[in-house]
Amino acid sequence: MIYITRKVEFCASHRLYNPDFPDDKNAAVFGLCNNPNGHGHNYCMEVTVKGEVDPETGMVLDLKALKALINEEIINKVDHKNFNMDVEFMKGVIPTAENIAIKFWEILEPKIQRGQLHEIKLYESERNFVTYRGTYSERFDREPSRTIG
Ligand code: NI
Repeated sequence: MIYITRKVEFCASHRLYNPDFPDDKNAAVFGLCNNPNGHGHNYCMEVTVKGEVDPETGMVLDLKALKALINEEIINKVDHKNFNMDVEFMKGVIPTAENIAIKFWEILEPKIQRGQLHEIKLYESERNFVTYRGTYSERFDREPSRTIG
C-alpha cells in the first residue's frame, strides 16, 4: 500500500452561525467567524489516495486525473465563493472546516477511479486544520442535520 497526495489551494468566505441560537450565543460559540457579513480564508486542501502501484505504469493513479477531478468537483464550485450562499452542496450545513472536509470527502470518494480515498486534510489557516478519513461516527447520521436558513 502506498499513499499519494494532491495539494490544492482556494479562497472562500463563510459565516459560522446556528439559526437555532440567539445572537449572543452565536457570537460566543463562533467568535470572529460569526461576523454578520462573513470573512474569507485562504484554504489549503490535501487529498490523499492509497493503493497499489500498477506495474504497467508505476503509478497508483494518474495525478493529472486526480487534479482534474478535484478541480471539476470541488475547486470550480468553491473558489472565490461564499460557502453559505454560493455553494449548493453546503446548503443547510454550518460551513466549519470539519463540515467542509466531510462534504468534500462525500463528493470525491465515489469518484476516485483507481486506488481508494484515504484522507482529506483541510487547512483553514496555517495553524488550524482538520483531517477526515471517512470514519465519522454514525451518531450524526442518525440525527437530522442541523440546518441554517
Ligand atoms: Ni472563519
